[in-house]
Amino acid sequence: MTRTPASTALKPRTIDAGNLRSDLDLSKAELNAVLDLAASVKQRPAEHRKALEGKYVSLLFEKPSLRTRLTFELAAKQLGADSVLSTGAIGGREPIKDVARNLERWTHCIVARTFAQDTVDSLAEWAKIPVVNALSDMYHPCQALADMQTLKERWGELPGHKLAFVGDGNNVAHSLLLDCARLGADVAVVTPPGFEPDESIVRMANEFAAESKSKVTVTNDCPEGLRGADAIYTDVWASMGQEQEWNERARLFAAYQLNADLYSMVRPNALVMHCLPAHRDEEVTDEILELPSSVIFDQAENRLHAQKALLLMLMAGSGGKP
Ligand code: CP
Ligand code: NVA
Repeated sequence: MTRTPASTALKPRTIDAGNLRSDLDLSKAELNAVLDLAASVKQRPAEHRKALEGKYVSLLFEKPSLRTRLTFELAAKQLGADSVLSTGAIGGREPIKDVARNLERWTHCIVARTFAQDTVDSLAEWAKIPVVNALSDMYHPCQALADMQTLKERWGELPGHKLAFVGDGNNVAHSLLLDCARLGADVAVVTPPGFEPDESIVRMANEFAAESKSKVTVTNDCPEGLRGADAIYTDVWASMGQEQEWNERARLFAAYQLNADLYSMVRPNALVMHCLPAHRDEEVTDEILELPSSVIFDQAENRLHAQKALLLMLMAGSGGKP
């Protein structure tokens, strides 16, 4: 008689906050647990294929998306669940508190891409189901999870390594600051004057870094910020909703383009990262994006695995919600 081998799947633990409104909803232990589960889900996807059978995810997208929307749709389907989509302003036709209390009657989780962070926070305040931030003007926590997974694949653990982000001190920069500092990687954000990350985020990142004995640098000086970096990351100069500022930003950001000159300031063969979509030959040259050390499509792939882990942790149990 053949014995069925014991499952090697990690059991998803739950996330205390019951939501991912921002990176701050995950404790360091929970962040590590999501990343461990993401690695396991990536290696053995079949072990979770019925984990969320019969459940539904509401996708609310106020802004465009390729990666986030499709990877959440795929994540739900690959876990035995399904998703429904609504685009357009959240809270435009009716109050957000009513939107939240409709969705909780039909579905088991809300994934929302918003302009204001308040919209995500209000959904979470009113819905009795988990709410996930799929990018707001302030944070992009799902992106940062996939990025941390990508870095762990390359580096093993993060302490002893440095990630430098160059460009706008935006939502992606905020989430990277918080997660890198939490996990013990040195992190630098290099921006033109006036485009630094939010002070409150830098303060929190510094608190996390003090605990994990890593270093946070925020500077306008490229050589200072990029020196010693094992990974260099950039993002668009004008985020969604800021398109009308593009011409002005292009002028102010020109010296911060990720090109061969900037790449010469980081460690040889440093990883090249971008959350995508990339504007080639604007914030980053095509040449740098196409280097063998570019991991941009690993990042994109890991969106799927990291979000599967996240949905498992939020939806498989009660998820910390009543
Ligand atoms: N990186 C990212 O969030 O891509 P989308 O805007 O296509 O979802
Ligand atoms: N900072 C960008 C990220 C896109 C994935 C934006 O908010 O548009």
